[in-house]
Amino acid sequence: MDAEQTTRKIYIIGAGPGDPDLITVKGLRLLQEADVVLYTDSLVNEDLIAKAKPGAEILKSAGMDLKEMVEIMVDRVRQGKMVARVHTGDPAVFGAIMEQIALLKKAGIGYEVIPGVSSVFAAAAAIGAELTIPELTQTLILTRAEGRTPVPELEKLKDLAAHHCTLALFLSATLVKKVVNDLLEAGWSENTPVAVVQRATWPDQLIIRTTISQLDQEMRANGIRSHAMILAGWALDPDIHSNEEYRSKLYDKEFTHRFRRGVKPS
Ligand SMILES: C[S@@+](CC[C@H](N)C(=O)[O-])C[C@H]1O[C@@H](n2cnc3c(N)ncnc32)[C@H](O)[C@@H]1O
Repeated sequence: MDAEQTTRKIYIIGAGPGDPDLITVKGLRLLQEADVVLYTDSLVNEDLIAKAKPGAEILKSAGMDLKEMVEIMVDRVRQGKMVARVHTGDPAVFGAIMEQIALLKKAGIGYEVIPGVSSVFAAAAAIGAELTIPELTQTLILTRAEGRTPVPELEKLKDLAAHHCTLALFLSATLVKKVVNDLLEAGWSENTPVAVVQRATWPDQLIIRTTISQLDQEMRANGIRSHAMILAGWALDPDIHSNEEYRSKLYDKEFTHRFRRGVKPS
């Protein structure tokens, strides 16, 4: 029963990174139609939740455990109510939706996921960066540093970093010392650019442009211990625009593709 169309289903909606305008049109429509809204109150903007219809039952999930949360959703759906489960960013990335879906399935309740703008893209937008630069890196790894939550043996940061691509680190603001060590061990140079965006798209958004060697000190100096996206790699070089080497084939005047015939140099 995968995200199937059923009248007995809940909507899992990506709220986006914070700015209430960054939810999708579909997500907002469903939020406004819902009879019950269960949202991640630690990260989702209250101004967005305030757009729910008058009289809707509004519930906060931060203080609930998994079973409680799912029981409420199942109960309301069985009462014939439309339920919106609102998650921060995009629900598919560190959203813990799989475990909710597993219990919903057991209860015979369907679901539909509405994607959202993940904080990784909100952070890139905040600094005006492209994360995949032609001839430099064509790969973006979304991951986290290992803390209390273990990461699988084949996904240690040091090993992932061996690709020297762009890294986006979620949930890692308190693990920066370890991040720096892992990247250096993977052979990254100390002057590799890093951008940290705390509370991307919120009114108090904070941006740091730094390097691996300065990262820990800068994070401490700015008191950043949570709600931060760490983007690392040479794609984050603030001077990248001045390097003529990095230009895509797509707009190269000599490159032919489906929509344009390239001009051969004379
Ligand atoms: C539980 S994860 C949820 C990620 C979310 N599903 C997403 O797509 O952005 C929470 C982590 O996402 C990152 N995060 C979420 N919102 C953020 C924001 N507005 N600015 C920066 N980082 C954010 C932080 O790394 C935070 O520790």
